[in-house]
Amino acid sequence: MAKSEDQLRDEILGLVAQYQKVKFAAQEFIPGKSPVRYAGRVFDDKEIVALVDSSLDFWLTAGRYTDEFEAELAYFMDLEYAMLVNSGSSANLLALTALTSPLLGEKRLLPGDEIISVAAGFPTTVNPILQNGLVPVFVDVDLGTYNANLEQISKAIGQKTKGIFLAHTLGNPYDVEALAELAEKHDLFLIEDCCDALGSEYKGRKVGTFGHVTTFSFYPAHHITLGEGGAVGTNDDTIAKAIKSLRDWGRDCYCSSGENNTCGKRFTGQYGTLPVGYDHKYVYSHIGYNLKATDMQAAIGVEQLKKLPDFCQARKENFKIWSAGFEKWQDFFILPEALPGSDPAWFAFPITLRENAGFSRTELTDYLSSKLIETRNLFAGNILRQPGYLDIDHRVVGDLTNTDYIMNHTFFLGTYPGLDIKQINYVLEEIQKFLDSKS
Ligand SMILES: Cc1ncc(COP(=O)(O)O)c(C=O)c1O
Repeated sequence: MAKSEDQLRDEILGLVAQYQKVKFAAQEFIPGKSPVRYAGRVFDDKEIVALVDSSLDFWLTAGRYTDEFEAELAYFMDLEYAMLVNSGSSANLLALTALTSPLLGEKRLLPGDEIISVAAGFPTTVNPILQNGLVPVFVDVDLGTYNANLEQISKAIGQKTKGIFLAHTLGNPYDVEALAELAEKHDLFLIEDCCDALGSEYKGRKVGTFGHVTTFSFYPAHHITLGEGGAVGTNDDTIAKAIKSLRDWGRDCYCSSGENNTCGKRFTGQYGTLPVGYDHKYVYSHIGYNLKATDMQAAIGVEQLKKLPDFCQARKENFKIWSAGFEKWQDFFILPEALPGSDPAWFAFPITLRENAGFSRTELTDYLSSKLIETRNLFAGNILRQPGYLDIDHRVVGDLTNTDYIMNHTFFLGTYPGLDIKQINYVLEEIQKFLDSKS
């Protein structure tokens, strides 16, 4: 008798689970022979089974897994809306572009308005400011926290300031409660880039719930991965509407994929100067993009989200092990610092060489690389010194002394859940050997 669709699916998924266990069997760590990565995917058979399950649906675009992922992410974050997109960079672009929407009336951002940010960070936190014809205003950051402080941000607020767009650097929360109050006092939008901070908390509340809009990245280096992916979160109905429209070609229609006439006036409305009854599916109320993700990505995400609390815990524990190991080397290094009241799910363990360390960052990271230990710089360093940004319209308030210092002296090691005590101890031993060779 021919097998039913359900039987076949069960067999396939059973085999996929077996395959995953063989193909991705845990490898023993051999010091000096196995790489120590700064980040990476952590998954088991559940993710691959979900991925194949979704591909067997062959729905491909946003579908049941997307609905589930968005609902679960919103629940985890305690946000009204979580909207899946194809990357964290797209999430940032949508978060800021949504604030230029005519739906916001007088409050909307207009070309020439200023947005406060930092130059020590990832480029696509700054890019949406430029892409929308807005002007970034850069302030310096503190060494140790790698975030701007409230005083620096306050000084940068001027007549044209309309928003603050800051990442919680490497998962380390800035004083987001006070910043949200400052933003409210000056009638500014606050956008929290939580691409590196999913699960970090400030005063018992998740970062990403204080500002008007928040963003996440699900690229493999991040707290959970969908391969490529990101999300935008908000509690504001109007902002959510603008984000969905801008994500989905700029359309006015908000039917889910495969649905029709959710609004009940598909052929009776009148929009712009279009004729009455022009099909609402083809009405565009924004100059939009297509930044959607697929249901296969969402399927992986549904399983990754279930692991997120454990992932965050593992990151915190790895951070503690690094901190204990580095404590004795404070004459050489500035160690990372979290603000009182914060509970970071650290993206990484950032380290800054002191001026009198007696060696350069490159000497150390090159040595570590020769021992198969990965390190990374703090992204763009000082973005204003990057070739693509030399001529951008911007303002700097104060100076960027620490930003430049970070560009020259800071690097980070991983905290991701794929690291364990054996690997961390190996790295610490190698750093000790390096320091001994310098003394
Ligand atoms: C702070 C920050 N924002 C945005 C992004 C962009 O995310 P994606 O790589 O998913 O585009 C990154 C990437 O790592 C990031 O670190």
